Amino acid sequence: MNLIEVKNLSKTFGQLKAVDNVSFEIASGESLGLVGESGSGKSTLARMILRLIEPTSGVIAYDGITNIRRECQIVFQDPQTSLNPRIRIGEAVGEPILIHQLLPKDKIQGRVRELLELVKLSKTYASRFPHELSGGERQRVGIARALASDPKFLILDEPVSSLDVSIQVDILKLLKEIKNELDLTYLFIAHDLSVIGFMCDRVIVMHNGQIVEIGAKDKIFNSPQKSYTKKLLNSTPKI
Ligand SMILES: Nc1ncnc2c1ncn2[C@@H]1O[C@H](COP(=O)(O)OP(=O)(O)O)[C@@H](O)[C@H]1O
Ligand SMILES: [Mg+2]
Repeated sequence: MNLIEVKNLSKTFGQLKAVDNVSFEIASGESLGLVGESGSGKSTLARMILRLIEPTSGVIAYDGITNIRRECQIVFQDPQTSLNPRIRIGEAVGEPILIHQLLPKDKIQGRVRELLELVKLSKTYASRFPHELSGGERQRVGIARALASDPKFLILDEPVSSLDVSIQVDILKLLKEIKNELDLTYLFIAHDLSVIGFMCDRVIVMHNGQIVEIGAKDKIFNSPQKSYTKKLLNSTPKI
């Protein structure tokens, strides 16, 4: 079953075709990788799927998702800028629960503690401010916040790109664990193929707003058909 189907999707900004006639499906339960260099249109595509921006043309069909705002969530690259510096972690993680009225107010902090536990942060983090956390800890909070509204589908938009390499693997492992535990579907965006290789079953290679190549991870990695994909593979260190 497909959770999401994207058909002939385009987004233009003035003369620029940021996303140019893109079509693909995301199967329920899969981890689909989206790789491409900076400026290739990955985040624009993500924003359209989340309905944060309207497509110029094309359609996105959702199956089994009734409330896109609640059930489709995103984890951004930089938890520094996605967390309000004046809001304590507990309140930030609890906010989506409040907004979507998922629990009575007196139950929210209990749920926040569960969410912190899920991302392997102690409950004492609830009373801290973002600046008191490391980059990796802040990204864990970003993940907890994305999970707070009980989503089915998560877009991870370069979630480890701003982190030290030593911390990247911890966060990737955590994301894998959480996906299995909560039965989630991922669209995992990266400019780094080694990260995609670790996380994903299937891969889309994107360049200048278009899909260059799409297929099973092993096929893309072992027998890339397009010269752009080969170039990308040759420029990536293996992990
Ligand atoms: N709101 C916007 N207005 C104008 N141009 C934009 C806007 N958002 C993105 N772009 C442009 O669209 C292209 C694709 O951007 P983006 O989707 O962020 O790429 P990626 O996430 O792959 O780095 C880039 O050239 C970027 O400058
Ligand atoms: Mg981007």
